[in-house]
Order: sequence, then structure tokens, then C-alpha cells
Amino acid sequence: MKHLIDIKDLTVEEIDELIKVAKDIMQFPDKYSEKCKHKKLATLFFEPSTRTRLSFESAMMELGGNVIGFSEASSSSTAKGESVSDTIRVVGGYADIIAMRHPKEGAPLVASIKSTIPIINAGDGGHNHPTQTLTDLLTIACEKNRLDNLTIGLCGDLKFGRTVHSLITAMVRYKNIKFVLISPEELKIPDYIKEEVLDKNRIEYIETNDIEEHMEKLDILYMTRVQKERFFNEEDYVRLKDYYILNKSKLEKAKADLAILHPLPRVNEISTEVDDDPRACYFKQARYGKYIRMALILKLLEIK
Ligand code: NCD
Repeated sequence: MKHLIDIKDLTVEEIDELIKVAKDIMQFPDKYSEKCKHKKLATLFFEPSTRTRLSFESAMMELGGNVIGFSEASSSSTAKGESVSDTIRVVGGYADIIAMRHPKEGAPLVASIKSTIPIINAGDGGHNHPTQTLTDLLTIACEKNRLDNLTIGLCGDLKFGRTVHSLITAMVRYKNIKFVLISPEELKIPDYIKEEVLDKNRIEYIETNDIEEHMEKLDILYMTRVQKERFFNEEDYVRLKDYYILNKSKLEKAKADLAILHPLPRVNEISTEVDDDPRACYFKQARYGKYIRMALILKLLEIK
């Protein structure tokens, strides 16, 4: 049985296959509409979510399956003191596959050890978010027609942003990938990502706090929200939350075929005036998320 806890649980070939299936689903949705008949997905969300949970649920429904679950810890037996491991063992008797989000880093890994059904990490604290990365990869594959030879700017909260950590981990396996890491000093990428992922794979990267400095080089600009819920004090959050606001003028030197991504939700980091720019891909990206999750559910349930 296979789980998806970390993006590295999938090989590059497996990711290619998921992208291929997702594209086929987009083109021929009817072919897939009964693939998960009589199957159930449990969405166990111990932390807030809109896109991830609803795209998972909608993915399972479009495969002809059903969905059970909860969207806040307070409405589950966690509020009575039940451990994650116990909850997972019990849900294993009711569902065929679990997507879970938890504020504690490593919780889905712990859950997977005791689980009798596949577990998908739908975000664990400030750590990883592999299905957002699959969404990002499908977006890049569709919008740029390649996953190699890219200069990727990652901007915002690179410290707590789990989507950034998973995306870097995934991208270093492709050829000729360079990063421009744009963040305020306090929100720089963690050392373990620099040492274990970037340096180990001899990846070229630049760190800067200036969003415009390397704009003309970028093929992708991945904006992120300052992760309010991971801050220890409100004052620091308030000081940093509007550090970057991408607007038309900051895009002046950008390539004509730049792709602007954002995992969403957006707070202030992209001005709404950018939404109509043909390079803005973030709402499309959210739509791609459903198709890649359909492909992932099929893979983990071993449905052809
Ligand atoms: C992201 C997350 O939950 O980490 N959202 C998402 O799943 N699309 C990004 C964020 O919350 O900032």
C-alpha cells in the first residue's frame, strides 16, 4: 500500500504519469466518471482549508465515489482527547482512502504507520504540502509545456510556507532549474532545505529581499501568503504581512511568458489589478488541483 506523505514518495516517472492521467481526465472526463463507484474518501481536516479539501471532495465525486469527513478538529473526537492514530485506525474501517491536514509537522507520517488504508498528506504544519506541489507541477506543465530549464522565483514566507518546501523538493529533480528566493530576512528558507535539498543537488539559487531585482530572469513567479497561523506574536506578523504586494508596475521588466502562480488563499500579496494579466495563472492553478487529485486517488487506490 502506498501513501503520499512527502513529494519524494513519488518518483519523477510516477509524477509524469499522474500529469498524463490528469490531462486525459481534463480531456475525457466521462471516461472516469464511475471509476471510484462504491469507494469512499475521508477528508480529515484538523486545520482550515478551502481549495485542498473541496478539490479533494469534488475530485472523488467526479470519479463517482463518495466523501465523508470533518473540516475542523473541534467537531471530531479530537476535542475529547482522541489521538490521531486512534482516529485513523477507526476511519480505516469506514473509508478507502484518507486525505488529512494537521497543524503538527509529521502528523500524517505518524498516522500512516498505523493506517490500513492510503493516507494523503494535505498539509502538515509549516512542513510539507505534496498535493499542492502536484497541482503546481500540472500547472507548470500545462502553462509552460515543460518542467525543466526554468528559473523560478519564490516570494514571500519561505520559512513557514509548506507549499514552497515541497515545490523546491520536487523541482530539484528536473534539469537546469534555478531559484530566486525572495523574502524578508526573518522569513528566509529554512537551513534544512538549503543544505539537504538545494546544496545537496547542486542547485543554483540567489537569495534577495527585493522582488524586482531579478524579475526579468524569471519564468515562474510563485507568490505566497505570510503564514499568520505559524507566528508566535501578532506584532511580527503585522510588520511582515504586506512586505510584498505584486502589482502591474513591479511586473514591468518581467518576461512576456512569465507564469504567476500562488497556492492561494491570497491576502494582500498580489494586487487584484494583476488578475486580468494573461500571465496570472493562480485561479487556473486552483482548477488544475482537482484533476491532479483525481489522478492521485486513482493511483493510490490502484484503479486503472
Ligand atoms: C496553502 C496551504 O494550506 O499551505 N493553501 C492551499 O492548500 N492551497 C497555502 C496557504 O495557506 O498559504
